[in-house]
Amino acid sequence: MKEKILSLFLQSPDSFLSGEEISEKLGVTRAAVWKHLNTLRAEGFVFESAPRLGYRLIAVPDILYPLLVQKELATRCFGRNIVHFAETASTNITAKELAADGAKEGTLVLAETQTKGKGRLGREWSSPAGVGLWLSLILRPPILPPATPQITLLTAVALAEEVKKLGIPAGIKWPNDLLVSGKKLAGILTEMGAETDRVNYVVVGVGINVNTAEFPPEIADIATSLRLEAGKHIERRRLLQNFLVNWERWYDRWLAEGFAPVREAWLRESVTVGQEVKVTSITGVTAGTAVGLDSDGALLLQTPDGAVRRILSGDVTLKES
Ligand code: BTN
Repeated sequence: MKEKILSLFLQSPDSFLSGEEISEKLGVTRAAVWKHLNTLRAEGFVFESAPRLGYRLIAVPDILYPLLVQKELATRCFGRNIVHFAETASTNITAKELAADGAKEGTLVLAETQTKGKGRLGREWSSPAGVGLWLSLILRPPILPPATPQITLLTAVALAEEVKKLGIPAGIKWPNDLLVSGKKLAGILTEMGAETDRVNYVVVGVGINVNTAEFPPEIADIATSLRLEAGKHIERRRLLQNFLVNWERWYDRWLAEGFAPVREAWLRESVTVGQEVKVTSITGVTAGTAVGLDSDGALLLQTPDGAVRRILSGDVTLKES
């Protein structure tokens, strides 16, 4: 109901709506209208009220209500269906449940805060309320399971491009971290539901530190946010809309043209290639120089004996950081 009331105000941006009008249009009591208006006020919406005229919406907070995100969203499929939580354990977990229940491609799960945000390799992802973009997108690409990591790489490209448009010199650390001056700005956690010869769904979870001003002590030295880098508050909703448009554009291009154009863009945005790195994976630690990205997205690592190895998964540490 709260969203329906908000929708009435958004439909008539400059006019006053009386409690009576709203209650008649939506078939609820005036007391209920009043209660919902107060909840919206507590969330940061500002209403001007005038005797006899009613209420007029004069300010909208940076909240990720589907109605507001979709208002100026120029995508074909990404975010056409949005599920928004004030709080959830992990948007990836929710998205996987929705995907298993048949949710459509492009369904987006958003949370203002996560209580059990998941990072790669079983790590925790700090997701404080209202300052980040914590989201998961459901995709259903007609691909085989080994091609799924390419979706992580194209997501990183789309995000790096959007962040750079804000004037922040972000670069991608293979496979999925967005760094600024060696500090982590965003991460991607891709999960899938698949059989050996078919992908049923892919859930791409993206965490972006947008307006975080302070990090927990254990990551304070290695994490950063757009706000800290840009020196100003960044509007989450606008960034999300722009990112979704660019992300969909890269996804569609990948489906139509394959991995080659993504690979080229990824190499352009990478801070990994050319660096001495250490790769930690379940098979152990390998040191060497990152010399390129293979045609399927594997990292090419030249080891001290001169051999070039293909790295398909693992955690990369840049030697200089
Ligand atoms: C990493 O770099 O380790 C990946 C971090 C991914 C975090 C995002 S936040 C939204 C989505 N839900 C989660 O629980 N994790 C991802």
